[in-house]
Amino acid sequence: MYGNVAIDGPAGAGKSTAARMVAERLGYIYIDTGAMYRALTWKVLNSGSRWDDEEIIRLAAVTKIEFSLDEQGGLQTICDGSDVSREIRERNVSANVSRIARIAGVRRRMVELQRRMAAQKPVVMDGRDIGSFVLPDAPHKFFLIASLEERTRRRCRQMEEQGIDFDRSQVSADIKARDEMDRSRTVAPLVQAADAKLIDTDCLTLHQVVALIIKEIRGE
Ligand code: DC
Repeated sequence: MYGNVAIDGPAGAGKSTAARMVAERLGYIYIDTGAMYRALTWKVLNSGSRWDDEEIIRLAAVTKIEFSLDEQGGLQTICDGSDVSREIRERNVSANVSRIARIAGVRRRMVELQRRMAAQKPVVMDGRDIGSFVLPDAPHKFFLIASLEERTRRRCRQMEEQGIDFDRSQVSADIKARDEMDRSRTVAPLVQAADAKLIDTDCLTLHQVVALIIKEIRGE
């Protein structure tokens, strides 16, 4: 066994697909931490709660977030027993998730859940603060980046595949705004851990990214 794998980077850098494939290759559990913040955002938006930090922290404490695999091996995000995999990718959730993810009490709860999952079985975990904060002792850390144009193209393709309507310039503006918020927040901002390997994915295919990560992990 190679130990836990942390994959961080900005929105749309290709982390989740690469992380899922790396997990599959290693026989590890894949944890999409962005989906956890998204699931809570979806719940806040649909529960009629006030946009009040205390109220959101209270909701986070009683929200059950789990992952399971569908028949095709796709990752499902389950919030309080319901499959919300599709809903959490919708624009309303994307536009509001950073507001939720910057709340310290929410992060404390999510990090606790994430560390608990990583303690049970070896994981490939992707997010923004995994190598720098959630799993600082993970032996394998990667930081994936890509240009805004490339990230916009990938996000649009993903939404197309999921049958979600979108406007390309709006997607680009949303990614840029989210980057700003993720980088500038005071609690666990998006930063590359000192010991993380930087991978620029602009000129790499998904398979090349996965092969590079696997090679590093195996020390080849
Ligand atoms: O990777 P994603 O786009 O699904 O992430 C959704 C949001 O959650 C994003 O705005 C940043 C936030 N996030 C975070 O703050 N920390 C993480 N570990 C993962 C995601």
